[in-house]
Amino acid sequence: MLLDCDTGVDDALALILALRSPELDVLGVTTVSGNCHVDLATRNTLLVLEQLRLPQPPPVARGCDRPLHLPLQTATDVHGRDGLGGITALTGADGRRRYPEPALTPTGATGPEPMVDLARAHGQSLTLLCTGPLTNLATALALDRRAMAGVERVVFMGGAIRVPGNVTPVAEFNIAVDPHAAQAVLDSGLPLVMVPLDVTTRTVLTEAALQAAAARRFGWLSRLVLDLTAGYMAFHREAVGVAGALMHDPLTVGELLAPSLTHKTPLSVGVECEGALTRGMTVADLRSRPTGRRPAPNVEVAMEVEAPRFLDLFLERATG
Ligand code: RIB
Ligand code: CA
Repeated sequence: MLLDCDTGVDDALALILALRSPELDVLGVTTVSGNCHVDLATRNTLLVLEQLRLPQPPPVARGCDRPLHLPLQTATDVHGRDGLGGITALTGADGRRRYPEPALTPTGATGPEPMVDLARAHGQSLTLLCTGPLTNLATALALDRRAMAGVERVVFMGGAIRVPGNVTPVAEFNIAVDPHAAQAVLDSGLPLVMVPLDVTTRTVLTEAALQAAAARRFGWLSRLVLDLTAGYMAFHREAVGVAGALMHDPLTVGELLAPSLTHKTPLSVGVECEGALTRGMTVADLRSRPTGRRPAPNVEVAMEVEAPRFLDLFLERATG
């Protein structure tokens, strides 16, 4: 798989889950502006990779630094100014940073090329996992549609079908940041699986559950996940009234690890790109129609999730 992310806290948790799951082969990571600027998302990705003490970390390539047509909007209120829930400010008893700047560096390639190169090299055996705005994928499609059309599947976190948005009353953040890119992906004909707020807002990792799991299996990994989620949980408690971390991006990894965790419905989905109140809204045609008169679906949308089973899987892999 290739992980395309705007590393923020839940992207970091998704990266940890993917890299601690032997079923998955993370061939590469591309970063994109979203939660924070792509330079910070790249540093954050490298910092987390370094903390995972991997014998051979996957290459990390810096992707697009702004949406196709809109000015970049970030989410530092949710993910902290460092994009990692403030962990870069943590120090040990010796006054040194608990999570220092990474020695790992990104590859020289930037923009959509790394994604296209992997698609060309791996074709049908490659799954793209997108947990940020879809700017890189849309740009890669414009660069080499044929190569991108050869991938096995694209699983992306984004959208809201029957539930409110999170960054506006109707828009989910990843889509709202770059609605034009999301529309291009939905128009692409690629095999798409969408993991929207409808299911990710049900996967809430509570402080109590994480602390209990960390106490059972304590070590550097549990410490990292506890540190990463502390600020993110505080945000959700104050701003959203949820006593825990919404596991948006890790659930997309769960979709690869155990597709039976969610129930998916083929839907015809479009993106509002202009509306003053509705820009970034994902609009699904839910009208009941006789089979022959339904619009052709362009995406499989996860509308139900076995949240407890997913959270158990996450805690089993991401503590220790
Ligand atoms: O709306 C949630 C999504 O936006 C997540 O991917 C989060 O990391 C942010 O990118
Ligand atoms: Ca993200």
